[in-house]
Amino acid sequence: MVRRSKGEAAGDAEAVDPRNTLNEMTGSAWLYFTKSLLVTAYPSDWAHDLRREHGACKPPELMKQLIEFFTTGSGRVLDPFAGVGGTLLGASLCIPPRRAVGVEIAERWVEVYRRVLKRLAAEGRALPEQEMLTGDCLEVLRRFPEGHFQFIATDPPYNVHLERTMCDGKYDESHTNRRTDYNMRSDDPADLANLETYEDYLAAMERVFRECLRVLEPGRYMALIVRNAYQSGRYMFTHADLAGRAERAGFVPKGEIVWYQAGSRLRPYGYPYAYVPNIAHQYIVVLRKPPSRPRPARRPRGPSARTPGS
Ligand SMILES: C[S@@+](CC[C@H](N)C(=O)[O-])C[C@H]1O[C@@H](n2cnc3c(N)ncnc32)[C@H](O)[C@@H]1O
Repeated sequence: MVRRSKGEAAGDAEAVDPRNTLNEMTGSAWLYFTKSLLVTAYPSDWAHDLRREHGACKPPELMKQLIEFFTTGSGRVLDPFAGVGGTLLGASLCIPPRRAVGVEIAERWVEVYRRVLKRLAAEGRALPEQEMLTGDCLEVLRRFPEGHFQFIATDPPYNVHLERTMCDGKYDESHTNRRTDYNMRSDDPADLANLETYEDYLAAMERVFRECLRVLEPGRYMALIVRNAYQSGRYMFTHADLAGRAERAGFVPKGEIVWYQAGSRLRPYGYPYAYVPNIAHQYIVVLRKPPSRPRPARRPRGPSARTPGS
């Protein structure tokens, strides 16, 4: 990614436009990011062998790309469902590193994040440690003031539907897409993956989105990484359902990036009777908190301030 100092001529694709307060990218880097399809295959790096214990860990390099687009160097990033810290590692990899806060309900995954940092330090690749808080994000986010964060990037917990569409031990290794079974669910009743129904899950996510909206600075963005699912003979457009709930909470939908997971293996789900998709992509849904309106100028009090006829 090419960065130049601000102040270079507006309109020069190789310069940072002086009007750009979102990030520190040149015009051409900005344009490249806005493609709605991402086909990058990320290497199994940054202690992936430890992080893969969590079946849904995200590549830190992907999170870095998102964070570098949606923040400047002074930006504060939040991941309310931090898992083993894909977003936190991504924030540490940014140039310059961003400050990030992660919230994770399961102590087990927080521990993995700490082990990852220790391992990287032992390998001579130490990354700045980010703030990882253990607890229910709905509770923990209340500690932060309004508008505290400049970007939210998260990969929400999956509801009951996902487990059944994953390998589940049903297919032998030659047919599995994943190197581990999905096992990120904890026993905590506040774990959103434990809710009874999909409707309960969406309602809980809407509550989280309301809290996210509050702690996000006006005009700033939230990126949700979502994998859709096929359950009980029906395809579930979870990314669209979650985008709808985020909109109800006050976010404005801005777009989606389809992340193609090259290298996904194929399983013979419906063969030879029916079409059942092999889902080889995830959505990165981009939402924005509306910018705050400038306050109307205060009009002086008294009869002289009145306009005739008002
Ligand atoms: C899909 S995973 C996120 C994985 C993460 N992106 C990573 O790279 O490791 C979702 C996480 O949300 C956590 N979670 C579920 N309910 C939660 C809640 N109420 N508050 C905070 N974390 C929660 C789960 O334990 C799970 O680790």
